[in-house]
Amino acid sequence: MSTLVVVGAQWGDEGKGKVVDVLAERADLVARFAGGNNAGHTLVVEGKQIITHLVPSGCTYPGTQCVLGAGMVIDPEVLEQEVASLRAMDLLRNDELRVSLDAHVVFPYHRQLDGLREDRAGDGRKIGTTRRGVGPAYEAKAARRGVRVRDLLDEQALRERLLKNKDALEPELERLGLATLDVDALVERGRGWGERLRPVVCDAGALCHDAITAGKRVLFEGAQGALLDVDHGTYPYVTSSNSVAGGVCTGIGIGPTAIDRVWGITKAYTTRVGRGPFPTRMTGADGDRLREAGAEFGATTGRPRDCGWLDLPALAHSARLSGMTGLCVTKIDVLAELPTVQICESYEDGVVPGVDSLEVAVPRLRTLEGWGDPSVVDGLRSATSRADLPGVVRAYLDLIEDQVGVSVALVSVGPDRSQTLRLADPF
Ligand code: IMP
Repeated sequence: MSTLVVVGAQWGDEGKGKVVDVLAERADLVARFAGGNNAGHTLVVEGKQIITHLVPSGCTYPGTQCVLGAGMVIDPEVLEQEVASLRAMDLLRNDELRVSLDAHVVFPYHRQLDGLREDRAGDGRKIGTTRRGVGPAYEAKAARRGVRVRDLLDEQALRERLLKNKDALEPELERLGLATLDVDALVERGRGWGERLRPVVCDAGALCHDAITAGKRVLFEGAQGALLDVDHGTYPYVTSSNSVAGGVCTGIGIGPTAIDRVWGITKAYTTRVGRGPFPTRMTGADGDRLREAGAEFGATTGRPRDCGWLDLPALAHSARLSGMTGLCVTKIDVLAELPTVQICESYEDGVVPGVDSLEVAVPRLRTLEGWGDPSVVDGLRSATSRADLPGVVRAYLDLIEDQVGVSVALVSVGPDRSQTLRLADPF
């Protein structure tokens, strides 16, 4: 077994950064396959916090190669800043970063469009995007006028693409009160990015394929979560790429037969930022309490996340969409700070995720024995095996496994690497 895909099983922010960071310890190569700097991974290494938006979480291990795949959209300015700050921490040395020639480029006008569209949309029509230009960059890609990393290395191709974008976007830019594209200035800027990226560009599919063939351990790091997938999520309140595990094949350029395992990350409860259905969302003081307990504020935008109980039907749906073979349950310690714990086992009126819109789902909640006893937290922190976990926590994990039909492979009981209970081997 040499390949593992790790994806979010909810609406993003499941703690993928920490889990991938822990799992990357044993990986030779970590590759991202979708999304852009709409993602934000918070890593805590020896008490130091690191937030990455584009570079995969493998960046903290010397010698581990970090690859950005063709399915991503990359804002070169953000990438340059991120690489500079990682290098200042003596991370991501030498030739550890590789960028696909076929990844698409996010330009400043994508960011402006993203933000202004959100500002101008009526209240009922906002998506609540991260305003990083990710949607407009994928839109250009689908319209076959996107600028790829390879186009930054070819002035004529770059100018042609930008002229196409100028034509296509002019009416909207004018309507939004934005200046039209200054193609000459953008070509200059784009060429500068291209020259600085030149030493790290690659065919990411071939690179991953060769690593797999050589028996190396390859970890594919998802961004966002399955329920934000453009095809399978809560459309239109989704991101613009494929965040389910299948996105690896197109987003990297490898076949499905190359994937050995798929682990899905879920919080022990649920959060969501941006608009869209969220059946177990808690409003009022209960939601505030969970948000404070779990420090639920976005790593990318700082927005407060909506909080709710764990939604097992939605999780089972995600597990099916990605063919999950293991579950990683994060932030389970946070629930110990609440007087009671609830969990959604099904929805009223037989609503089924995937068949019915989650917009209409009313959760049936089961109330579990409270975890308030401080010995539960102590028990969580000191556990070195599943049997060591406090009884209420073991029962919670059993319930998840029973309903979702996937075994728990890892439990995270705090932000630090050391606060991790590993129950199965990733590779
Ligand atoms: P976009 O990806 O910026 O276009 O945003 C579309 C939707 O996806 C919004 O609801 C965002 O809040 C959500 N989203 C995008 N990336 C993330 C993420 O990394 N975590 C959580 N939500 C995200």
